[in-house]
Amino acid sequence: MLGNFKYSNPTKIYFGEDSLQFLNEELPKYGQNIMLTYGGGSIKKNGIYDKVVEILTANGKTVFEDAGVMPNPTVEKLYEGCKIAKENNVDLILAVGGGSVCDYAKAVSVSTYCEEEPWDKYYLRMEDVDNKIIPVGCVLTMVGTGSEMNGGAVITNHEQKLKIGHVFGDNVFPKFSILNPVYTYTLPEYQMVAGFYDIMNHITEQYFSGEDDNTSDYIMEGLMKSLIHSSRIAIKNPKDYEARSNIMWTATWALNTLVAMGKSTDWMVHMIGQSVGAYTDATHGMTLAAISLPYYRYIMPYGLAKFKRFAVNVWNVNPENKTDEEIAAEGLNAMEAWMNELGLVMNITDLGATEDMIESIANGTFIMPGGYKVLTHEEIVDILKNSL
Ligand code: NZQ
Ligand code: ZN
Repeated sequence: MLGNFKYSNPTKIYFGEDSLQFLNEELPKYGQNIMLTYGGGSIKKNGIYDKVVEILTANGKTVFEDAGVMPNPTVEKLYEGCKIAKENNVDLILAVGGGSVCDYAKAVSVSTYCEEEPWDKYYLRMEDVDNKIIPVGCVLTMVGTGSEMNGGAVITNHEQKLKIGHVFGDNVFPKFSILNPVYTYTLPEYQMVAGFYDIMNHITEQYFSGEDDNTSDYIMEGLMKSLIHSSRIAIKNPKDYEARSNIMWTATWALNTLVAMGKSTDWMVHMIGQSVGAYTDATHGMTLAAISLPYYRYIMPYGLAKFKRFAVNVWNVNPENKTDEEIAAEGLNAMEAWMNELGLVMNITDLGATEDMIESIANGTFIMPGGYKVLTHEEIVDILKNSL
């Protein structure tokens, strides 16, 4: 049965090749001081920085730069950003980059005026925001996380060896996000395919939970089919606009809260993957790729009906004269073949994890209750060993 829920999503999306011009519509809504937040420099190389600065200048804004947001943004960088935002009385944080930049902007937005230690309050204690929030706008350059239309903000604390995501409420979602598929053309292939798998895994994390006949499951099957189809085109021709635009939009819908409405969700691949990330600083989507098959093969017997449905509806496995187990296994084999086609990293050893880290990675994994099997510590250790 579809559960009860409240649903709204406050982020305004501007999508398409000309979408950056809509920054001119948004900027007048905010005060004078804009914090321009970006990563390690890709936006300077591909010219997006110049275009954004031109629009900010034309709108007469005062710009404070906050550069160098690293992939998997750290707590130290977060506090640096809060200082810039506070000292300059920033009215809008404009995040130009991928999920890391967008997540970080949301974390700065809630932490700048937080009177307690933000890491402890939001990440260790998972408390709600009760202080001033600085609005965030986003110009997305990397596709995968869905951060452009959700309240997620993942921060890494290397000292404590923890990578934690806080999913904030509607008031922290970006006020607007500009999605131009052409901006993703300059992504290195490694990042592009990591993003593709991040999308897939956001969907499977929400799909492999519950047994009900649920509209969300049909939507997710459509999203997965679109992603698989377009990814095969994009890997051959990264500048195929149709494929890249479909993938960009699929990524947004995979994690903008819609498909989770009224149903339970799993998220254990992300929980284990994030802990691997805390130890290795590996690319997010690759940590998920490396964990996924050992995890899904392990839980398959506990959610057999759904794994069978996944095989038939998403991967077109022919069910005739086969047991449910055979059909379900063929579905995961088909996913594995697709992952290999994309060139994903399929084990955590290649991401820098070693056997002696496994106990600690398992200790740093948050156990979620919504999947087909609530994992024990020992089961997480086994899944990690099978991912080496
Ligand atoms: O830093 P720059 O120089 O910009 O380079 C970035 C970075 O090195 C580069 N890049 C981005 N756009 C580019 C580009 N290079 C060339 N051309 C472009 N157009 O790509 C690299 C990776 O970027 P990053 O933002 O780190 O990737 P992604 O979008 O995958 O974000 C990852 C972060 O998001 C979190 C992850 O844990 C990780 O910290 N997540 C956030 C979620 C959310 N908000 O809901 C959910 C996800 O599951 C995920 O956990
Ligand atoms: Zn993810």
